[in-house]
Amino acid sequence: MIPAYAIDQNWDGYSAAEHRVWTTLYDRQRDLLESRACDAFLKGLKALDLHGDGIPDFARINPRLEKLTGWRIIAVPGLIPDAAFFDCLAQRIFPAGQFIRSADTLDYLSEPDIFHDVFGHVPMLTDPTFADYMQAYGIGGQRALGLDHLHHLARLYWYTVEFGLVQSREGLKIYGAGIASSHAEAIFALEDPTPSRIAFDILRVMRTRYRIDTFQETYFAIPSIGALLEATLQDFSDLYAALETASEIAPGVILPTDRDLGSGPPVLEARQ
Ligand code: PHE
Ligand code: FE
Repeated sequence: MIPAYAIDQNWDGYSAAEHRVWTTLYDRQRDLLESRACDAFLKGLKALDLHGDGIPDFARINPRLEKLTGWRIIAVPGLIPDAAFFDCLAQRIFPAGQFIRSADTLDYLSEPDIFHDVFGHVPMLTDPTFADYMQAYGIGGQRALGLDHLHHLARLYWYTVEFGLVQSREGLKIYGAGIASSHAEAIFALEDPTPSRIAFDILRVMRTRYRIDTFQETYFAIPSIGALLEATLQDFSDLYAALETASEIAPGVILPTDRDLGSGPPVLEARQ
């Protein structure tokens, strides 16, 4: 079934200037992420051959992606309604903005464009475990809509798919697309002393509000993609019930129960 809102990518229609914007962003991000993104992300970037030679053609990426995890990308004009978005994810379809930001606003986005959506999100969709997580999220989203808990589930997306960090032998790494596609936040999220980086806890995440207008004040780090998937396989009914009475947590607040992972030396080495 072709989802409503799907449009033709019209790859031939991109101008030379638009291709150059992709290449500029790609080159800048590629160097930055080499030491900062998690292995799954870097592996995906390579597997998709998302090189710096201009905006990728979905017709060229999709066969590779489908072979790896059964996901495919469709072009959409911009943000689509929640229900349509979840519907896509549940079918292993990722809707990506067709347009690209302009050269004079390289670091500002009012809506996700093709660089954020494809460079940021699609590499992780080549990872089989993450691919399953995203589909499960789509199904969970449809359910949360019906249960009136979308605002809670949206926080899970925000703090994982968009702004998630993952622990590794070399310390915290980036897997969230919002960080991976942002030059300044890719540095800030890992190296700046101001934000808190705390161990992922699903109830804690769903209680935490987030900011869309500036860098995050709190990042949640998962032990592994597998652990994230496992934590979300449980039926969320009990969580949603608990959230009815649990207080909300402002971004940036650290609770006594939080495990602060700091920004210092690698997690595993630090424990030795
Ligand atoms: N387990 C969730 C539920 O019962 C569904 C879900 C899975 C949501 C993965 C998000 C991510 O609603
Ligand atoms: Fe996104």
